[in-house]
Amino acid sequence: VDFYKVMEGKNQTAPGLHFVGKKDDLIQAKRSFRTLDGRDVLIIHHEGVFHAIDSYCHHAGGLLQNGDIEEINGKMCIICPKHKYKITLAEGECLYKGKDPRENPSVTRWFSKGVKQRIHVVTESDGNVFVKLSVSPGWIESDYYQGEKGKVERAKA
Ligand code: FES
Repeated sequence: VDFYKVMEGKNQTAPGLHFVGKKDDLIQAKRSFRTLDGRDVLIIHHEGVFHAIDSYCHHAGGLLQNGDIEEINGKMCIICPKHKYKITLAEGECLYKGKDPRENPSVTRWFSKGVKQRIHVVTESDGNVFVKLSVSPGWIESDYYQGEKGKVERAKA
């Protein structure tokens, strides 16, 4: 018995594994918004790859759904439409351009602020797509805009 087929249509599959849609539909949509276990997640299909990322920007709750996607420093990034922060789709790292004052001469290049946006795991089986929410321990800044306080702030912005 194909486990995924049995569970398809029930939305919830194995514990923690969420059916989010048919592969073809998600590819056509390019970006799909889903609420999984109360968490708002953006599923992106870009250049043949699926990504799942917290849908509100860690900086000030901007809607990543409307952000452009660009390759920066060899990494695919979504650019928050609000203040143009650049977030890698694979790791959730926030990239910025700067100079290291310890270098002489110092040149402008890309640096990482570290992981700021929670990234979730996407899997496919038999034309169906599933997301497993990240269980990375500890606080990741985008968690704030998934909580009650963050929701209130988003609504005001
Ligand atoms: Fe995303 Fe400020 S809210 S860059």
